[in-house]
Amino acid sequence: MKILPEISRTLSEYLLIPGLTTEDCTPDRVDLGAPLVRHRLGEEPGVRVATPLVSAIMQAVSSPTLAVALARAGGLSFIHQNQRIEDQAADVRAVKGHDHPASGTDDRASVDGEGRLRVGAGINSRDFKDRVPALVEAGADVLCLDSSDGYSVHQARTLEFARETYGEDVPVGAGNVVDGRAFRYLADAGAAFVKVGIGGGAICTTRAQKGIGRGQASALLDVVEARDAYAQETGVYVPLCCDGGLLNDSHMAMALAMGADFIMLGRYFARLDESPSRKLLIDGQWYKEYWGEGSLRAQNEARYGQRGRMVFEEGVDGYVPYAGGLDDNVERTRAKIASTMISCGSTNLRDFHRDAVLVPVSAESFKQTGAEVQLRLPALTSAE
Ligand code: IMP
Repeated sequence: MKILPEISRTLSEYLLIPGLTTEDCTPDRVDLGAPLVRHRLGEEPGVRVATPLVSAIMQAVSSPTLAVALARAGGLSFIHQNQRIEDQAADVRAVKGHDHPASGTDDRASVDGEGRLRVGAGINSRDFKDRVPALVEAGADVLCLDSSDGYSVHQARTLEFARETYGEDVPVGAGNVVDGRAFRYLADAGAAFVKVGIGGGAICTTRAQKGIGRGQASALLDVVEARDAYAQETGVYVPLCCDGGLLNDSHMAMALAMGADFIMLGRYFARLDESPSRKLLIDGQWYKEYWGEGSLRAQNEARYGQRGRMVFEEGVDGYVPYAGGLDDNVERTRAKIASTMISCGSTNLRDFHRDAVLVPVSAESFKQTGAEVQLRLPALTSAE
């Protein structure tokens, strides 16, 4: 047994100190572009995104409709893998076959060499010998292993299979991890990117059920250090994806400041029109359903028992406040991240990684952030 000396910290426990904002720091000059896959330092990655947001590998999140909207907004979706191989491949085909009309923001769209929208797909380390070829055949641009704990020989074997079969042509991300050891293992095994985060998801009960996980800030800072050391040693940059528990836009800016290349979101996208779940009116307020992939509901909807009989749940089944359409939300999020970067004096993510100055906040200063104004009165009958 060994106890790490540092306490496990979340993203809310840090703030950014402003840097010098110069004339160059204007919203239209901020470039949020990020590499999605491994590449040699100084060379162009095979896949980039103009908006560093990807949607979670979840039934309640990544449908073809959401994937089309997100790719047009410059991000990327990962079609969920808790379904039959042929159904998932059909979802991928639906996105690739979408005829994508030109519009104002489309110069940002994530497109492949033939101008088709890009789409990713989740895979697992059990049926990969059948699922990977079917998804590649359907046109998936990027694949990603979908597991709450990616530090395993099973993931290494899956990566090896993809590399032996397709060489560098089919990038496969791996994860999730929360420390530098696990990052290096997956980077050595050929992961195209590594996903960071265990137990932080909005619908996640992994920490309570299994006791594994780490605060997202501590996990990210540890893995960022390992990624940078790996790049120095090998000349290969393996991008990091910060996954789970990003509750608001400032958390996204914080994750990017800490060195994440891009961000995976579940709850954020589940709230939107384009997500596949039902929209419900409850007590005058609109909600959308949102459930974890480890919840009983996800297992039931998968129906064919791909994962075998579930012995315990690792996720909850609930509702999130409805938040409108994807375009407006992504545009607002982009503007907020850009505004944070401008305050910190950065106009691109590489500079932001290098120049951001962060400070941990004490419990007392954390409390002070809460509004001291009562926002709702119990029963207002008249006002002057
Ligand atoms: P969110 O953005 O906070 O909603 O977190 C989404 C992330 O939670 C996903 O990308 C997964 O990594 C993780 N996740 C999805 N379903 C479950 C579950 O049932 N239990 C635990 N974690 C989950």
